[in-house]
Amino acid sequence: MATDQQPGKRITPFHFRRGKERGDLIAMVTAYDAPSARLAEQAGVDGILVGDSAAMTVLGHDSTVQITVDEMLVLTRAVARSVFRPLVVADMPFGSFQVSDEEAVRHAVRLVKEGGAGAVKLEGAGPTLTRVAAIVGVGIPVMGHVGLTPQSAVALGGYRVQGRRVRDAHRLRDEALALQGAGCFAIVLEAMPAIVASRITEALDVPTIGIGAGPGCDGQILVWHDLLGMTPGHVPQFVKQYAKLADAAKIALKSYVADVRARKFPDAQHTYQMAEGEEAAFADSLKPI
Ligand code: KIV
Repeated sequence: MATDQQPGKRITPFHFRRGKERGDLIAMVTAYDAPSARLAEQAGVDGILVGDSAAMTVLGHDSTVQITVDEMLVLTRAVARSVFRPLVVADMPFGSFQVSDEEAVRHAVRLVKEGGAGAVKLEGAGPTLTRVAAIVGVGIPVMGHVGLTPQSAVALGGYRVQGRRVRDAHRLRDEALALQGAGCFAIVLEAMPAIVASRITEALDVPTIGIGAGPGCDGQILVWHDLLGMTPGHVPQFVKQYAKLADAAKIALKSYVADVRARKFPDAQHTYQMAEGEEAAFADSLKPI
């Protein structure tokens, strides 16, 4: 998107909106730590989502619902303090906004104030709509998320493509419009037929960010570990792996283990010496008198 942005300028929700008006596509990726965030910024992404997918990708849980606000804060801080230009969006984890508008605002404020996020993301519509309005009402930009919403994967019958039937497609479109009405500056469309995502995108003034939603969205996002080939096991059909980093890491680690066991590492190049002449003096000093 932001090819016309000056290098020294931060990307804000305003730029996302303007990107849509101009037809500039938005590139986002998830990241959960400082080195990844720096690489993403150097690659020129427009936005970084500190996704609650961290529960699975970095914390080893089997779903996203276990991650807490305090854990999200640690990850968000690491990302936010490491980048300047991309918009940092923090996911509001399961349980942080379901109970009441007040709790939603309290947790969103923490993610911005303590975490350094520039915006927060909430999954779903329905009861989420008043949460979005309340958070936007205190001045925090909100990204919406419809389609496959992993926090409700159990209720949705698993990680399934949404909106394959006309009635469901209409529901998704209505939800996206309602989220825009509640004040979202952008909406993630996850796992839905391309035609549905395109029609939703056309219906909205705010940009859509697709993940498994085809090429008709105003931007795209992928999960860091999927994009770089670090996800163990099955990856969904919509994921394009741009590298095989897990394979490369495994080869490197196996070489290290073999070198340690063969006493090939550390070699002279990777070893400190005492100052000139000190080694002999040290040996002498250790001799019994
Ligand atoms: O948590 C996450 O990574 C997400 C993306 C899938 C959009 O919500």
